[in-house]
Amino acid sequence: MHIAVLGGDGIGPEVTAEAVKALRAVAANGPQFEMTEGKIGDAAYDTTGDPLPEATVVLAERADAVLFGAAGTYESDLRPPEARGGHGLLRLRKRLDLFANFRPVRAIPELAGASTLRREVLEGVDLVVLRELTSDIYFGTPRGFSTAGGERSAFNTMRYTESEIRRVAHAGFKAAQARRGKLCSVDKANVLETMQLWRTVVTEVGREYPDVELTHLYVDAAAMHLIRRPRDFDVIVTGNIFGDILSDAAAMLTGSLGMLPSASLNAEGRGLYEPVHGSAPDIAGRDIANPLASILSAAMMLRLSLGKPEMAMRVETAVRRVLAEGLRTADIMEEGATLVGTQAMGDAVAREIARLPD
Ligand code: NAD
Ligand code: IPM
Ligand code: MN
Repeated sequence: MHIAVLGGDGIGPEVTAEAVKALRAVAANGPQFEMTEGKIGDAAYDTTGDPLPEATVVLAERADAVLFGAAGTYESDLRPPEARGGHGLLRLRKRLDLFANFRPVRAIPELAGASTLRREVLEGVDLVVLRELTSDIYFGTPRGFSTAGGERSAFNTMRYTESEIRRVAHAGFKAAQARRGKLCSVDKANVLETMQLWRTVVTEVGREYPDVELTHLYVDAAAMHLIRRPRDFDVIVTGNIFGDILSDAAAMLTGSLGMLPSASLNAEGRGLYEPVHGSAPDIAGRDIANPLASILSAAMMLRLSLGKPEMAMRVETAVRRVLAEGLRTADIMEEGATLVGTQAMGDAVAREIARLPD
């Protein structure tokens, strides 16, 4: 099986290297995964003039799955799209039509003390944010800058088609059926036409899933409920920009953005797997980033794209054991725990994977 490995920028390559370590460890007693590195982000732009070289798209299309790190830096974020590392990732999502982005958020008892939230609020939290990933204000046109009227202005277009909403809604209902049967659709239907259509279409699709309990929240209230009563959520389905924001907030339910994995799937089930966090320029190059979000993304890849649920389980169990042993990167450090760097954390997970039976 062939995996395209796109480390990208900042801590992207650092955490991805640890996920690769976990993949090698879990396949140690059988055929190894074939892994090929490709360029993306500022790292690609600086050497090829394109944040998403065509060779990377070909590599990603031919691979059975893509393991992605992070793209973009503060320096490039304000450039035009064609020179912006982060835009390389957006283009790749669009090219592969990865419309369904699953971001599971599970409170880990060992990390209850690492969160800024109270332990009793976090107990039992197990939810998934399903973020639509290939439309919305991220991709709507027209967009751009203008000097009409004698002053600078800028504009973006929030747009959703019925079919774009319908397909992600179906993915949300199916995910809910496979879990606790609850779907919460998050929109801003009280203000935006796009979101009125969103609510209408999600409600229509819901009639095909009488076994799923559908509720609706406005995004502002959803942000509050997510922090106040996170245990009540099962699957949250929402648009591209709201999903981006809500999932970073939800990361604090696990203790750190460095803990949150994700899977981005297309209609054929092909996937790109990446941590929810970005390139973290503030900590890059210092061997202090938490690699667990990337390692847990690799576990999602094993389960969802490579058909290896037992291997996925081994990786996840190894992560739990390492945390139970008290190893912590700086972002989740607590009193009495042992502080380790990125590579030492990856080594520890690989060691635990090797100890677990195949
Ligand atoms: P970020 O997610 O990179 O970092 C936010 C904060 O969380 C920082 O303080 C960072 O140090 C911390 N953090 C993130 N991941 C961590 C980890 N694994 N371990 C420990 N701490 C971690 O978001 P940002 O600072 O807003 O953006 C930085 C750059 O990354 C920007 O250029 C942005 O455009 C880009 N970005 C890329 C992606 C992506 O590629 N998917 C996602 C988000 C941001
Ligand atoms: C994410 C990131 C990206 C997004 C950026 C880097 C384009 O924040 O994957 O969550 O906004 O989708
Ligand atoms: Mn984000």
